[in-house]
Amino acid sequence: MLISLKNHVALITGGSQGLGRAMGMQFAASGASVVLLARRQALLDEAAQEIAAATGAKVKGFACDVSDLNQVEAVWAQVEKEFGTVDIVVNNAGSSARNPIETLSMEKLQADIDLKLKPALRLVQLALPGMKAQQWGRVINVVNIGAKAPPVGTAPTCMTRAAGITMTKVMSKELAPDNILVNALCVGQIMSEQWVGYYEKDKPDMTFDEYVTMRGKPIPMGRIGQAEEFANVACFLASDAASYVTGVAINVDGGLSPVT
Ligand SMILES: NC(=O)c1ccc[n+]([C@@H]2O[C@H](COP(=O)([O-])OP(=O)(O)OC[C@H]3O[C@@H](n4cnc5c(N)ncnc54)[C@H](OP(=O)(O)O)[C@@H]3O)[C@@H](O)[C@H]2O)c1
Repeated sequence: MLISLKNHVALITGGSQGLGRAMGMQFAASGASVVLLARRQALLDEAAQEIAAATGAKVKGFACDVSDLNQVEAVWAQVEKEFGTVDIVVNNAGSSARNPIETLSMEKLQADIDLKLKPALRLVQLALPGMKAQQWGRVINVVNIGAKAPPVGTAPTCMTRAAGITMTKVMSKELAPDNILVNALCVGQIMSEQWVGYYEKDKPDMTFDEYVTMRGKPIPMGRIGQAEEFANVACFLASDAASYVTGVAINVDGGLSPVT
């Protein structure tokens, strides 16, 4: 099976580092032109240069805080002008917002919805005319395994992620007649810059590598995943190889989730 994204344009939010950057690299290596969105332009430029140098693909980063829908709409217009029809949208930007229910403020809940849910919906709405016109589209919504089985203390992120899976299902049913396939990927524990933050917060009496090894032990596969392993699954879903797959939420977690 040959996975090719030739003649496709992929837009990836949160594309400057971590899983988003790994997807950018994999998509570009598979032939796509790649648009990366994130807030920090310098990091975007560095990612775009690295991916373009490694793959020869057209890659560009656009600064955009996806929580601000005015910025999303302005960037979309720029992207369409420079890249034409975007037919692969990956909603990946996010962070891990956790708060006990008892003290969870409405502002914190709203901020999580603004970051993870509203821009994902808006970007798909913006992409729809182009995808419908060519009767081909792919949407990948990145959520987490807690969306299906939330551990204690994981609001608001798991609430928003659960809504992300439901949004995926609704979109998949409405858009399937136009050959626009919508799926979610549920992240378990996968190495990225986010993990440096966890290490610094936990302040364990061990090196970063020892910490990562320790955190990987309870996972059935015995280790934390690599961003490239995640990007491989995303690349499959973005391709024609996944032509009859829509409305699913796939765990990419080395067996960690208690549910399918
Ligand atoms: N890695 C894991 O183990 C794990 C586990 C569960 C869920 N996830 C989810 O998977 C996704 C990717 O995770 P990751 O580990 O690659 O995270 P990461 O290394 O922290 O990268 C997050 C990316 O999102 C961008 N971003 C954050 N807020 C943004 C905003 N308001 N507007 C635009 N871009 C924004 C960041 O760039 P700027 O800061 O420059 O904007 C960065 O490019 C996230 O949604 C994360 O919550 C990851």
